[in-house]
Amino acid sequence: MNLLFLGDVVGEIGSEFVGEKLGGLKKFYNAEIVIVNGENSANGNGITPHSAKYLFSHGADIITTGNHCYRRREIYETMDREERLLRPANFPEGNPGHGVCLYDMGKCTVAVINLMGTVYMEALDNPFSTVDKILGEIDTPNIFVDFHAEATGEKKAMGFYLAGKVTAVFGTHTHVQTADETILSGHTGYITDAGMCGPELSVLGVKTEIAIEKQRYHAPVRFTESDNSPFINGVIVEFDQKNGKCVAIERLVIR
Ligand code: FE2
Repeated sequence: MNLLFLGDVVGEIGSEFVGEKLGGLKKFYNAEIVIVNGENSANGNGITPHSAKYLFSHGADIITTGNHCYRRREIYETMDREERLLRPANFPEGNPGHGVCLYDMGKCTVAVINLMGTVYMEALDNPFSTVDKILGEIDTPNIFVDFHAEATGEKKAMGFYLAGKVTAVFGTHTHVQTADETILSGHTGYITDAGMCGPELSVLGVKTEIAIEKQRYHAPVRFTESDNSPFINGVIVEFDQKNGKCVAIERLVIR
């Protein structure tokens, strides 16, 4: 069975390009399930009911998020209601939404877990102990983790920590696709960062002139998404649904 994972969708330009291409990609790669990180799918950061609905209606089966999950208050109600929209599981209890989804595909159940790193990020609950607890409660071998984290070291450590225990670990958040896709312990697909779906000629999605002004002068600026040259970054994973083993992983860049 094939699963397609798309890196952080940035703004309307990223959403629309995903909307345009996803149907064809699913067919071409024979992908039966699609996970998309949508935490920046709304213009001006975050995710809104509108941007989530757009991604779902254009082929996303599960949407994961990250540190911007609560930026837009209007998404809170959808997060509580929509099982297929996730926020990191290691946010403190009492927050809207949930960090795990069990997706029934008929011939098997797929579990998707969303976690956030804590190195150079907010001090959430420990993602390693959080995932241990979740794995103890899940009864399917087909488990996919979106680990939304800043530090490559934390992401690598999580990959090796979960090697042999989950089908794949996809790093997200840093918006630059890494060239280290691999299969750990002959079982777990891994990539440090899947990259982003948004404007390629930008600074992580932001208009270049604004990002340069910020870096050059340390001036307060308002980040605006670039509307230049959209591309899609992601990963296609082939797995055996009988035992949850990843048998192939390939990076995608679609321009
Ligand atoms: Fe992020």
